[in-house]
Amino acid sequence: MDYLQIEGIKSLNGTIKISGAKNASLPLIAMTILAKNSVNIKNLPNVADIKTLLKLLSNLGAKCDFLEDRVVVDTATLTETKATYDIVKTMRASILVLGPILTRFGHCEVSLPGGCAIGQRPIDLHLKALEQMGAKIKIKAGYVQASAPNGLKGCNIIFDKITVTGTANIVMAAALATGKTTITNAAREPEVVQLCEILNASGVTIEGIGTAILTIYGTSQELINIKEFSIIPDRIEAGTYLCGGAITKSELTLENTKAEHLGAVIAKLEEMGSTFKITKNSITIYPSQVIKPVKIITQEYPGFPTDMQAQFLALATQADGTSIIEERLFENRFMHVSELQRMGAEISLNGNVATVSGKSQLSGADVMATDLRASSALVLAALVSEGTTNIHRIYHLDRGYDSLEQKLKGVGAKITRLKE
Ligand code: EPZ
Repeated sequence: MDYLQIEGIKSLNGTIKISGAKNASLPLIAMTILAKNSVNIKNLPNVADIKTLLKLLSNLGAKCDFLEDRVVVDTATLTETKATYDIVKTMRASILVLGPILTRFGHCEVSLPGGCAIGQRPIDLHLKALEQMGAKIKIKAGYVQASAPNGLKGCNIIFDKITVTGTANIVMAAALATGKTTITNAAREPEVVQLCEILNASGVTIEGIGTAILTIYGTSQELINIKEFSIIPDRIEAGTYLCGGAITKSELTLENTKAEHLGAVIAKLEEMGSTFKITKNSITIYPSQVIKPVKIITQEYPGFPTDMQAQFLALATQADGTSIIEERLFENRFMHVSELQRMGAEISLNGNVATVSGKSQLSGADVMATDLRASSALVLAALVSEGTTNIHRIYHLDRGYDSLEQKLKGVGAKITRLKE
């Protein structure tokens, strides 16, 4: 197993190129199941989760040619309709194939994703919506067994909660359904917006893109023609490196990024004292020498993203004063707290609220990555710690950060990947 060794107290300087968004790529790769042509996808991030989903599609019979940052996916040869436990257990987002396979083939089996480090993460809302569209669903032997022999039917769906992959799954299911589907309380994340835009450009009329009410006009099981497209930049990767600039008090420029997807993140960094220069495709952070404390509540887009909570918690350890961070999306997304405490951070946890007392002098330690974003918080903390930090179990980081150590090395960090 690999681990990362980071020497702290380094200031950084330079430019980082942001990769394509993992959480946009996953539904867009699943979307190729709806296509009659082979689909060319550009600007894919080189991360483990993408390879896992491509492996799942290959196991189902699709042809996937993955070359650096692009892939050509041909699902014409896809005949299997069962996503097995061995893959789904490694990546919950495998559930994204349920909607597309069911709507195309009239049946699908997907291993039920189990619990997760950050919370229970049920998929009841995905299943309830598919049932409303006419699917018969059984849970048997650890699998979701779904069938709709005569195809799915459009209907009105009101999500009890906003769900990102739930919205993506149902949008894809509705794309080949018969009639009109309306989703109320739909997710508005940029990744969902891109999925809707690509489907819309491929002949599936979708109204209300980017709003909480989506209307999808299905093609009655006719497969669609999807033209080449490029994945949007990863806003969470960009947000993480902006926190890297803020915590090390270093001027950094991010290229291939879209500031309009980072409104809440940039606003909080401004409250903490940083200023920014923003162009169409780049963001430069000018950090303040004194970091101000902050109050954060995680929310669905366009609110402050839960996927940036851990990184801001690390940053808050370096603020002068007390920050309050409330996690509203996932019940157990504070596993990084105990690792940060081991590095000297002063954090008290009360339910879903973390109170961070700054400024703490952190010191390097052996710490354990527990989930993807928790891992990046440890990297940020390590950059400003005295001495050496060894971050173990970095397979979590590799799931979602493309070339993290090369990118950080490129701006001057002392970071090395080693074998346990
Ligand atoms: C997506 O997960 C992202 N994953 C997550 O990113 C992100 O943290 C999350 O959205 C929230 O923004 C991908 O896009 C692949 P949800 P998802 O369904 O879709 C509850 C990362 O670090 N819920 O929007 O699984 C759920 O428990 C990851 O890149 C139900 O109750 O999240 C949670 O409390 C981690 N029933 C809330 O809704 C359901 O059927 C939002 O979850 C579905 C969800």
